[in-house]
Amino acid sequence: MNKIGVGYASVTELEKKYVMDALESQRLSQGKYVALFEKKFSAMHGNKYGVMNNSGTNALHIAFEALKEVDNWDESTEVLVPAITFIATSNAVIHSGLKVVFVDVDPITYNMNPNEIEKHITRNTKCIVPVHAFGMPCDMRKITEIAKKHNLRIVEDCAESHFAKIGEKPIGSFSDISAFSTYVAHTITTGVGGISCTNDVHLAEIMRSLVAHGRACTCEVCVASDGKNVCPKRMKTDLDRRFTFERLGFSYRVGELEGALGLAQIERKDEIMNARHKNAEILTELLTPYEDKLQLPREPEGVTHTYMMYPILIKKDSCIERKDFIQFLEKANIETRPMLPLLNQPIYKKIFGEHFEDNYPVAKFINSNGFYIGCHHGMTEEDLKYIAENINAYLSN
Ligand SMILES: Cc1ncc(COP(=O)(O)O)c(C=O)c1O
Repeated sequence: MNKIGVGYASVTELEKKYVMDALESQRLSQGKYVALFEKKFSAMHGNKYGVMNNSGTNALHIAFEALKEVDNWDESTEVLVPAITFIATSNAVIHSGLKVVFVDVDPITYNMNPNEIEKHITRNTKCIVPVHAFGMPCDMRKITEIAKKHNLRIVEDCAESHFAKIGEKPIGSFSDISAFSTYVAHTITTGVGGISCTNDVHLAEIMRSLVAHGRACTCEVCVASDGKNVCPKRMKTDLDRRFTFERLGFSYRVGELEGALGLAQIERKDEIMNARHKNAEILTELLTPYEDKLQLPREPEGVTHTYMMYPILIKKDSCIERKDFIQFLEKANIETRPMLPLLNQPIYKKIFGEHFEDNYPVAKFINSNGFYIGCHHGMTEEDLKYIAENINAYLSN
Protein backbone atom coordinates (compact mmCIF):
# COMPACT_ATOMS: atom_id res chain seq x y z
CA MET A 1 0.00 0.00 0.00
CA ASN A 2 1.40 3.41 -0.98
CA LYS A 3 1.50 6.09 1.67
CA ILE A 4 -1.70 8.14 1.86
CA GLY A 5 -0.16 11.58 2.23
CA VAL A 6 -1.62 14.74 3.72
CA GLY A 7 -0.85 16.81 0.62
CA TYR A 8 -0.92 16.37 -3.11
CA ALA A 9 -0.18 18.36 -6.25
CA SER A 10 -1.25 17.27 -9.69
CA VAL A 11 0.43 18.45 -12.87
CA THR A 12 -1.66 17.85 -15.97
CA GLU A 13 -1.14 18.56 -19.66
CA LEU A 14 -2.49 22.08 -19.07
CA GLU A 15 0.26 23.00 -16.56
CA LYS A 16 2.85 21.49 -18.92
CA LYS A 17 1.45 23.43 -21.90
CA TYR A 18 1.58 26.81 -20.11
CA VAL A 19 5.01 26.16 -18.58
CA MET A 20 6.40 25.07 -21.97
CA ASP A 21 4.90 28.18 -23.54
CA ALA A 22 6.60 30.33 -20.90
CA LEU A 23 9.91 28.54 -21.50
CA GLU A 24 9.64 28.90 -25.24
CA SER A 25 8.89 32.60 -24.94
CA GLN A 26 12.40 32.98 -23.47
CA ARG A 27 10.95 35.27 -20.83
CA LEU A 28 11.63 33.83 -17.42
CA SER A 29 11.17 36.89 -15.22
CA GLN A 30 7.69 38.19 -14.47
CA GLY A 31 5.59 38.67 -17.60
CA LYS A 32 2.17 37.87 -19.03
CA TYR A 33 1.57 34.69 -16.99
CA VAL A 34 2.31 36.37 -13.66
CA ALA A 35 0.08 39.29 -14.65
CA LEU A 36 -2.77 36.97 -15.68
CA PHE A 37 -2.47 34.86 -12.53
CA GLU A 38 -2.49 38.00 -10.35
CA LYS A 39 -5.54 39.39 -12.12
CA LYS A 40 -7.59 36.19 -12.11
CA PHE A 41 -6.68 34.86 -8.67
CA SER A 42 -7.30 38.20 -6.96
CA ALA A 43 -10.63 38.69 -8.80
CA MET A 44 -11.76 35.19 -7.75
CA HIS A 45 -11.22 36.34 -4.15
CA GLY A 46 -13.08 39.63 -4.56
CA ASN A 47 -10.02 41.85 -5.03
CA LYS A 48 -8.94 44.27 -7.76
CA TYR A 49 -5.20 43.84 -7.27
CA GLY A 50 -2.91 40.88 -6.69
CA VAL A 51 0.84 41.00 -6.09
CA MET A 52 2.45 37.64 -6.67
CA ASN A 53 5.55 36.85 -4.64
CA ASN A 54 7.66 33.94 -3.53
CA SER A 55 5.81 32.63 -0.42
CA GLY A 56 2.75 32.89 1.77
CA THR A 57 5.02 34.15 4.54
CA ASN A 58 6.27 36.98 2.37
CA ALA A 59 2.75 37.71 1.14
CA LEU A 60 2.00 38.46 4.82
CA HIS A 61 5.30 40.26 5.36
CA ILE A 62 4.72 42.79 2.57
CA ALA A 63 1.13 43.26 3.80
CA PHE A 64 2.39 44.30 7.26
CA GLU A 65 5.21 46.40 5.81
CA ALA A 66 2.78 48.25 3.51
CA LEU A 67 0.34 48.95 6.36
CA LYS A 68 3.23 50.04 8.57
CA GLU A 69 4.20 52.61 5.96
CA VAL A 70 0.69 53.91 5.33
CA ASP A 71 -0.48 54.00 8.95
CA ASN A 72 2.85 54.93 10.55
CA TRP A 73 2.96 51.85 12.77
CA ASP A 74 6.00 51.46 15.00
CA GLU A 75 7.46 48.79 17.28
CA SER A 76 4.73 49.44 19.90
CA THR A 77 2.03 48.38 17.41
CA GLU A 78 0.18 45.23 18.46
CA VAL A 79 -1.22 42.73 15.97
CA LEU A 80 -3.73 40.05 17.00
CA VAL A 81 -3.01 36.54 15.74
CA PRO A 82 -4.82 33.27 16.60
CA ALA A 83 -3.10 30.92 19.05
CA ILE A 84 -3.32 28.16 16.43
CA THR A 85 -1.84 28.81 13.01
CA PHE A 86 1.23 27.85 11.03
CA ILE A 87 4.19 29.64 12.61
CA ALA A 88 4.67 31.78 9.47
CA THR A 89 1.70 34.02 10.39
CA SER A 90 3.16 35.24 13.67
CA ASN A 91 6.73 35.13 12.35
CA ALA A 92 5.74 37.61 9.62
CA VAL A 93 4.44 40.00 12.30
CA ILE A 94 7.68 39.65 14.28
CA HIS A 95 9.84 40.08 11.17
CA SER A 96 7.94 43.30 10.45
CA GLY A 97 9.07 44.64 13.83
CA LEU A 98 5.56 44.55 15.31
CA LYS A 99 4.25 42.93 18.50
CA VAL A 100 2.27 39.70 18.25
CA VAL A 101 -0.62 39.30 20.68
CA PHE A 102 -2.24 35.87 20.57
CA VAL A 103 -5.97 35.22 20.81
CA ASP A 104 -7.37 31.83 21.82
CA VAL A 105 -9.32 29.84 19.25
CA ASP A 106 -12.80 28.41 18.97
CA PRO A 107 -13.00 24.77 20.13
CA ILE A 108 -15.13 23.70 17.16
CA THR A 109 -13.76 25.63 14.18
CA TYR A 110 -10.16 25.96 15.54
CA ASN A 111 -10.14 29.54 14.20
CA MET A 112 -9.66 32.78 16.14
CA ASN A 113 -12.51 33.02 18.65
CA PRO A 114 -14.21 36.42 18.16
CA ASN A 115 -15.38 36.36 21.80
CA GLU A 116 -11.74 36.31 22.93
CA ILE A 117 -10.59 39.26 20.81
CA GLU A 118 -11.71 42.34 22.75
CA LYS A 119 -9.95 41.41 25.98
CA HIS A 120 -6.62 41.69 24.11
CA ILE A 121 -7.30 45.10 22.54
CA THR A 122 -5.22 47.97 23.92
CA ARG A 123 -4.56 51.48 22.58
CA ASN A 124 -1.62 49.99 20.66
CA THR A 125 -3.68 47.39 18.82
CA LYS A 126 -3.87 48.22 15.14
CA CYS A 127 -4.64 45.03 13.28
CA ILE A 128 -6.42 41.67 13.47
CA VAL A 129 -5.12 38.70 11.49
CA PRO A 130 -7.84 36.06 11.11
CA VAL A 131 -6.40 32.82 9.75
CA HIS A 132 -8.88 30.65 7.87
CA ALA A 133 -7.26 27.42 9.03
CA PHE A 134 -7.62 23.96 7.45
CA GLY A 135 -10.01 25.32 4.78
CA MET A 136 -12.58 26.65 7.27
CA PRO A 137 -13.53 30.35 7.10
CA CYS A 138 -13.35 32.43 10.30
CA ASP A 139 -16.41 34.16 11.70
CA MET A 140 -15.80 37.28 9.63
CA ARG A 141 -19.14 38.91 10.51
CA LYS A 142 -18.11 39.24 14.15
CA ILE A 143 -14.44 39.96 13.39
CA THR A 144 -15.22 42.79 10.95
CA GLU A 145 -17.68 44.27 13.48
CA ILE A 146 -14.97 44.32 16.17
CA ALA A 147 -12.42 45.77 13.74
CA LYS A 148 -14.83 48.55 12.78
CA LYS A 149 -15.67 49.34 16.40
CA HIS A 150 -11.98 49.69 17.35
CA ASN A 151 -10.79 51.14 14.04
CA LEU A 152 -8.46 48.21 13.31
CA ARG A 153 -7.04 46.97 10.05
CA ILE A 154 -7.64 43.36 9.00
CA VAL A 155 -5.10 41.18 7.20
CA GLU A 156 -6.62 37.79 6.34
CA ASP A 157 -4.27 34.81 6.21
CA CYS A 158 -5.91 32.68 3.51
CA ALA A 159 -2.99 30.31 2.95
CA GLU A 160 -5.07 27.25 3.80
CA SER A 161 -8.44 28.28 2.40
CA HIS A 162 -8.25 29.24 -1.25
CA PHE A 163 -11.79 29.75 -2.63
CA ALA A 164 -13.57 29.19 0.71
CA LYS A 165 -16.70 31.31 1.04
CA ILE A 166 -19.12 32.76 3.56
CA GLY A 167 -22.41 32.91 1.73
CA GLU A 168 -21.39 34.05 -1.73
CA LYS A 169 -18.52 36.21 -0.44
CA PRO A 170 -15.05 34.69 -0.88
CA ILE A 171 -12.57 34.76 1.96
CA GLY A 172 -9.87 37.28 1.17
CA SER A 173 -12.51 39.94 0.48
CA PHE A 174 -13.18 40.85 4.13
CA SER A 175 -9.95 42.72 4.76
CA ASP A 176 -7.53 45.47 3.80
CA ILE A 177 -5.09 42.86 2.49
CA SER A 178 -5.36 39.09 2.17
CA ALA A 179 -2.36 36.79 1.87
CA PHE A 180 -2.26 33.37 0.21
CA SER A 181 0.41 30.68 -0.03
CA THR A 182 0.70 28.60 -3.19
CA TYR A 183 3.34 26.28 -1.76
CA VAL A 184 3.12 22.72 -3.02
CA ALA A 185 0.89 21.31 -0.27
CA HIS A 186 -1.74 24.00 -0.83
CA THR A 187 -4.97 23.69 -2.78
CA ILE A 188 -3.71 25.74 -5.74
CA THR A 189 0.03 25.48 -6.15
CA THR A 190 2.81 27.18 -8.06
CA GLY A 191 5.51 24.98 -6.51
CA VAL A 192 6.55 27.74 -4.16
CA GLY A 193 4.85 31.10 -4.08
CA GLY A 194 2.32 33.45 -2.59
CA ILE A 195 0.05 36.32 -3.49
CA SER A 196 -1.15 39.40 -1.59
CA CYS A 197 -4.54 40.77 -2.65
CA THR A 198 -6.19 44.11 -1.96
CA ASN A 199 -8.77 46.55 -3.29
CA ASP A 200 -6.60 49.53 -2.32
CA VAL A 201 -4.51 50.73 -5.26
CA HIS A 202 -2.05 52.54 -2.99
CA LEU A 203 -1.38 49.43 -0.84
CA ALA A 204 -1.03 47.38 -4.03
CA GLU A 205 1.59 49.78 -5.42
CA ILE A 206 3.58 49.74 -2.18
CA MET A 207 3.52 45.92 -2.06
CA ARG A 208 4.58 45.73 -5.71
CA SER A 209 7.49 47.99 -4.92
CA LEU A 210 8.39 46.02 -1.77
CA VAL A 211 8.73 42.70 -3.62
CA ALA A 212 11.18 44.34 -6.06
CA HIS A 213 13.74 45.95 -3.71
CA GLY A 214 11.57 49.00 -2.99
CA ARG A 215 11.74 50.36 -6.53
CA ALA A 216 10.17 53.75 -7.11
CA CYS A 217 8.55 52.61 -10.31
CA THR A 218 6.34 49.52 -10.29
CA CYS A 219 5.65 49.33 -14.01
CA GLU A 220 6.22 45.91 -15.53
CA VAL A 221 9.49 46.91 -17.17
CA CYS A 222 11.03 48.25 -13.97
CA VAL A 223 9.87 45.40 -11.72
CA ALA A 224 10.92 42.65 -14.12
CA SER A 225 13.16 43.98 -16.82
CA ASP A 226 13.39 41.81 -19.92
CA GLY A 227 16.42 43.79 -21.02
CA LYS A 228 14.63 44.93 -24.18
CA ASN A 229 12.02 47.47 -23.18
CA VAL A 230 12.48 50.81 -21.49
CA CYS A 231 10.18 52.21 -18.81
CA PRO A 232 7.87 54.76 -20.44
CA LYS A 233 8.43 57.14 -17.51
CA ARG A 234 12.21 56.72 -17.57
CA MET A 235 12.75 59.14 -20.42
CA LYS A 236 10.66 61.85 -18.78
CA THR A 237 12.93 62.30 -15.83
CA ASP A 238 16.63 62.70 -15.30
CA LEU A 239 16.60 59.92 -12.70
CA ASP A 240 16.94 56.31 -13.77
CA ARG A 241 13.50 55.12 -12.66
CA ARG A 242 14.42 51.45 -12.58
CA PHE A 243 17.28 52.11 -10.20
CA THR A 244 15.55 54.56 -7.89
CA PHE A 245 14.55 52.97 -4.58
CA GLU A 246 12.00 54.67 -2.37
CA ARG A 247 11.71 52.25 0.51
CA LEU A 248 13.64 49.37 2.10
CA GLY A 249 12.39 46.57 -0.05
CA PHE A 250 12.97 42.86 -0.49
CA SER A 251 13.69 40.46 -3.31
CA TYR A 252 10.46 38.47 -3.21
CA ARG A 253 9.69 38.16 -6.93
CA VAL A 254 8.65 35.07 -8.85
CA GLY A 255 8.92 34.37 -12.56
CA GLU A 256 6.86 33.17 -15.49
CA LEU A 257 7.17 29.48 -14.63
CA GLU A 258 5.31 30.00 -11.35
CA GLY A 259 2.81 32.28 -13.10
CA ALA A 260 2.16 29.65 -15.79
CA LEU A 261 1.68 26.90 -13.20
CA GLY A 262 -0.69 29.07 -11.19
CA LEU A 263 -2.79 30.01 -14.20
CA ALA A 264 -3.27 26.36 -15.16
CA GLN A 265 -4.14 25.45 -11.57
CA ILE A 266 -6.86 28.09 -11.25
CA GLU A 267 -8.34 26.97 -14.56
CA ARG A 268 -8.64 23.51 -12.92
CA LYS A 269 -9.91 24.86 -9.63
CA ASP A 270 -13.43 23.36 -9.79
CA GLU A 271 -12.09 19.88 -10.50
CA ILE A 272 -9.64 20.16 -7.55
CA MET A 273 -12.09 21.75 -5.11
CA ASN A 274 -14.95 19.37 -5.93
CA ALA A 275 -12.77 16.29 -5.43
CA ARG A 276 -11.52 17.54 -2.04
CA HIS A 277 -15.00 18.43 -0.90
CA LYS A 278 -16.41 15.08 -1.94
CA ASN A 279 -13.56 13.22 -0.21
CA ALA A 280 -14.10 15.15 3.01
CA GLU A 281 -17.83 14.39 2.90
CA ILE A 282 -17.16 10.67 2.39
CA LEU A 283 -14.65 10.63 5.26
CA THR A 284 -17.11 12.39 7.56
CA GLU A 285 -19.83 9.90 6.66
CA LEU A 286 -17.49 6.97 7.30
CA LEU A 287 -16.21 8.40 10.59
CA THR A 288 -19.50 9.67 12.02
CA PRO A 289 -20.00 6.47 14.08
CA TYR A 290 -16.89 7.48 16.11
CA GLU A 291 -18.08 10.98 16.91
CA ASP A 292 -18.40 10.14 20.60
CA LYS A 293 -14.59 9.95 20.62
CA LEU A 294 -13.48 12.09 17.69
CA GLN A 295 -14.46 15.63 16.70
CA LEU A 296 -14.77 15.81 12.92
CA PRO A 297 -14.76 18.96 10.78
CA ARG A 298 -18.25 20.25 9.96
CA GLU A 299 -19.36 22.77 7.39
CA PRO A 300 -21.79 25.26 8.94
CA GLU A 301 -24.89 26.26 6.93
CA GLY A 302 -24.01 28.85 4.28
CA VAL A 303 -20.23 28.37 4.61
CA THR A 304 -18.00 26.69 2.02
CA HIS A 305 -15.22 24.71 3.72
CA THR A 306 -12.43 23.85 1.30
CA TYR A 307 -10.73 21.11 3.32
CA MET A 308 -7.08 21.75 2.66
CA MET A 309 -6.71 19.01 5.20
CA TYR A 310 -9.01 16.90 7.37
CA PRO A 311 -8.57 17.85 11.06
CA ILE A 312 -9.54 15.38 13.78
CA LEU A 313 -9.66 16.23 17.49
CA ILE A 314 -9.60 13.46 20.09
CA LYS A 315 -12.36 14.32 22.54
CA LYS A 316 -11.80 14.79 26.26
CA ASP A 317 -12.54 11.63 28.29
CA SER A 318 -12.25 9.42 25.20
CA CYS A 319 -9.26 7.59 26.77
CA ILE A 320 -7.40 7.71 23.46
CA GLU A 321 -3.68 8.40 23.61
CA ARG A 322 -2.87 10.57 20.57
CA LYS A 323 0.71 9.39 20.22
CA ASP A 324 -0.36 5.77 20.15
CA PHE A 325 -3.25 6.46 17.76
CA ILE A 326 -1.18 8.35 15.19
CA GLN A 327 1.63 5.81 15.39
CA PHE A 328 -0.93 3.13 14.54
CA LEU A 329 -2.11 5.17 11.53
CA GLU A 330 1.43 5.96 10.38
CA LYS A 331 2.32 2.26 10.57
CA ALA A 332 -0.64 1.63 8.29
CA ASN A 333 0.87 4.18 5.85
CA ILE A 334 -1.65 6.88 6.66
CA GLU A 335 0.27 10.11 7.05
CA THR A 336 -0.69 12.42 9.93
CA ARG A 337 0.38 15.89 11.09
CA PRO A 338 -0.16 17.77 14.35
CA MET A 339 -2.78 20.52 14.13
CA LEU A 340 -0.55 23.59 13.72
CA PRO A 341 0.96 23.64 17.23
CA LEU A 342 2.37 27.09 17.79
CA LEU A 343 2.76 28.31 21.36
CA ASN A 344 4.55 25.14 22.46
CA GLN A 345 7.25 25.46 19.79
CA PRO A 346 10.76 25.67 21.29
CA ILE A 347 11.43 29.06 19.71
CA TYR A 348 8.15 30.54 20.98
CA LYS A 349 8.75 29.15 24.49
CA LYS A 350 12.07 30.96 24.33
CA ILE A 351 10.49 34.22 23.19
CA PHE A 352 7.24 34.21 25.17
CA GLY A 353 8.04 31.99 28.16
CA GLU A 354 8.07 28.29 29.00
CA HIS A 355 4.42 28.18 30.19
CA PHE A 356 2.97 30.81 27.86
CA GLU A 357 0.68 28.22 26.26
CA ASP A 358 -1.24 27.88 29.57
CA ASN A 359 -2.87 31.26 28.84
CA TYR A 360 -4.59 29.69 25.82
CA PRO A 361 -6.43 26.62 27.14
CA VAL A 362 -8.35 25.80 23.96
CA ALA A 363 -5.24 25.99 21.77
CA LYS A 364 -3.35 23.96 24.37
CA PHE A 365 -5.98 21.21 24.30
CA ILE A 366 -5.91 21.12 20.48
CA ASN A 367 -2.10 21.05 20.48
CA SER A 368 -2.18 17.94 22.66
CA ASN A 369 -5.15 16.16 21.13
CA GLY A 370 -5.49 17.18 17.49
CA PHE A 371 -4.02 15.85 14.28
CA TYR A 372 -4.93 15.95 10.64
CA ILE A 373 -4.96 13.60 7.69
CA GLY A 374 -5.39 14.28 3.98
CA CYS A 375 -8.60 14.42 1.95
CA HIS A 376 -7.00 15.77 -1.20
CA HIS A 377 -7.89 15.32 -4.85
CA GLY A 378 -5.28 12.57 -5.32
CA MET A 379 -7.12 10.21 -2.95
CA THR A 380 -9.47 7.48 -4.11
CA GLU A 381 -12.62 6.16 -2.46
CA GLU A 382 -10.58 3.06 -1.63
CA ASP A 383 -8.07 5.22 0.28
CA LEU A 384 -10.88 6.81 2.26
CA LYS A 385 -12.37 3.42 3.15
CA TYR A 386 -8.93 2.17 4.13
CA ILE A 387 -8.49 5.14 6.51
CA ALA A 388 -11.91 4.50 8.08
CA GLU A 389 -11.17 0.77 8.46
CA ASN A 390 -7.93 1.54 10.26
CA ILE A 391 -9.53 4.09 12.53
CA ASN A 392 -12.23 1.54 13.30
CA ALA A 393 -9.60 -1.13 13.97
CA TYR A 394 -7.78 1.13 16.42
CA LEU A 395 -10.88 2.35 18.24
CA SER A 396 -12.36 -1.14 18.53
CA ASN A 397 -9.33 -2.39 20.42
C1 LIG B 1 -1.78 29.56 7.70
C2 LIG B 1 -0.50 29.70 6.95
N1 LIG B 1 0.05 30.92 6.81
C3 LIG B 1 1.20 31.09 6.14
C4 LIG B 1 1.86 30.04 5.55
C5 LIG B 1 3.18 30.28 4.88
O1 LIG B 1 3.21 29.95 3.55
P1 LIG B 1 4.61 29.60 2.81
O2 LIG B 1 5.03 28.27 3.28
O3 LIG B 1 4.26 29.67 1.38
O4 LIG B 1 5.56 30.68 3.22
C6 LIG B 1 1.32 28.76 5.64
C7 LIG B 1 2.03 27.62 5.01
O5 LIG B 1 1.68 26.50 5.05
C8 LIG B 1 0.12 28.57 6.36
O6 LIG B 1 -0.43 27.36 6.50
